[in-house]
Amino acid sequence: MRKDRNHGNAAVATFILLLLAGRSGATAAAFELEEATIDSIHRAFAAGELTSRSLVELYLRRIASLDPALHAVIELDPDGALAATDRADAAARSGSSSPPQLHGIPVLLKDNIAAAGPLNATAGSLAMVGSSPARDAGVVERLRNAGVMLLGTASLSEWCNFRGPGIPAGWSPRGGQGKNPYVPSATPCSSSSGSAIAAAANMAAVTIGTETDGSIMCPSSYNSVVGIKPTVGLTHQPCRRHHHITKDGHSWIQLMPITRTVSDAVHVLEAIVGYDARDAEATRKASQYIPEGGYRQSLKIDGLRGKRLGILRKDFFRFPLGSVQEKVFSEHFDIISKMGANLVDNLDIPSMNVINDAVQSGERALMLAEFKLSLNSYLSELAKSHVRSLSDIIDFNNKHPIEESLAEFGQDYLIQSDATNGIGRTEERAIARLNKLCKRGLEKVMQDNLLDAIVAPGASAHSLLAIGGYPAITVPAGYASNGVPFAICFGGLKVSEPKLIEIAYSFEQATKVRKPPSLQHSII
Ligand SMILES: *[C@@H]1O[C@H](CO)[C@@H](O)[C@H](O)[C@H]1NC(C)=O
Repeated sequence: MRKDRNHGNAAVATFILLLLAGRSGATAAAFELEEATIDSIHRAFAAGELTSRSLVELYLRRIASLDPALHAVIELDPDGALAATDRADAAARSGSSSPPQLHGIPVLLKDNIAAAGPLNATAGSLAMVGSSPARDAGVVERLRNAGVMLLGTASLSEWCNFRGPGIPAGWSPRGGQGKNPYVPSATPCSSSSGSAIAAAANMAAVTIGTETDGSIMCPSSYNSVVGIKPTVGLTHQPCRRHHHITKDGHSWIQLMPITRTVSDAVHVLEAIVGYDARDAEATRKASQYIPEGGYRQSLKIDGLRGKRLGILRKDFFRFPLGSVQEKVFSEHFDIISKMGANLVDNLDIPSMNVINDAVQSGERALMLAEFKLSLNSYLSELAKSHVRSLSDIIDFNNKHPIEESLAEFGQDYLIQSDATNGIGRTEERAIARLNKLCKRGLEKVMQDNLLDAIVAPGASAHSLLAIGGYPAITVPAGYASNGVPFAICFGGLKVSEPKLIEIAYSFEQATKVRKPPSLQHSII
């Protein structure tokens, strides 16, 4: 009844109806929204304490209250989400079949993931408003099949931090400046910042981000949430990656869950990986490595036992002597040893200065070429759009300058990308260089030391792990003296997800570091 009311502003309408619902409904009384997990939500459903509709209403209310300060959300689709809850609740009441894996779980998608329907996937760009995808991205289709409730889109750095150098992390013309919920003056980091902020501040049950190089690991670290970055799936072309608007579930785009717990991330991972018939070439190889029985069996409390972990020190541990981080990591390593893992300390990766320099490593050249290829192909397939090519977007930006304080940053990456011409000699050379850095870098250290995983603080290993499409999991590890969160990262060779999950889950359960942000400063 309420959703039929036609207020001009859907978010306001929703907020009002939620206040009404909150007054009359006692449905959610026993259920704790803050730090809710997929398991706690499913238990509350089963106990009759919660319905899918009341849960979506709780999250929409929380978003309406927090987002004006945090800028983690770009668009909401309350009508679509509530209609979906009614179908889910009816199916649950009929009880004829067991509910799907992510039944009733409210999700926010990073704004570069296309979903059929009213949500605009814009990568934060005003040029993309009004562009309608012809169909769901593969990942969205899988999430819907798994029973999720799509709430809306999460903010990000415009074009996944690929507009031009210097632009503040977490800023886009559509989303404004995303804020770190722990310390508003600190960076939320790039580029899946909105997804990480929203997960951290309990604005959705789970969120989805994307990563090419650091876009999940860094915001997860700065916002005290868990990020799983799966193996890039296109193994016949190592080192290849993408960061365009994702029209499909190519596993090499590295779509990934950002959640509050390792267990939730693993539930979501299981729902979004796998063979995609429309994308057979890219996913056939990777799907051979999805373990029989899935990933959840790797959630083992003693998952650290017997593992060999290599600590990357030089180029990675860059904390002042006597800092909180130094102390906390040494405590964590003691715990990891007590849990039965063998630590190999003081490892270093040769050529880290090259790996961390996108121009020298060849990463930038490849990104520039792939960005144009993938974006132009995406734009050409849209059902409806004002822009059909990267050059249309550059023209749009020229005609619609961004706010003055940021104008000096321009759109150099977009312009440089538009000047590329597919994968030619420069790009082939870049791929060869990246492959060499992978072989002599992470792969050699892992093999020489017989490691199951490497350990590094925060997102310090993001380029090391990105250039080879290697998997990684970041888990909250602590809070610096100024209150800014930091993570521990476990990374490994391709398709080592089961091991990494065992390690990360066991670490998380032994340490239980994550605390929700206090948010007094942002409650309105
Ligand atoms: C998508 O953009 C159009 C403008 O072209 C707008 O009318 C619509 O409300 C947007 N969708 C959502 C869910 O905000």
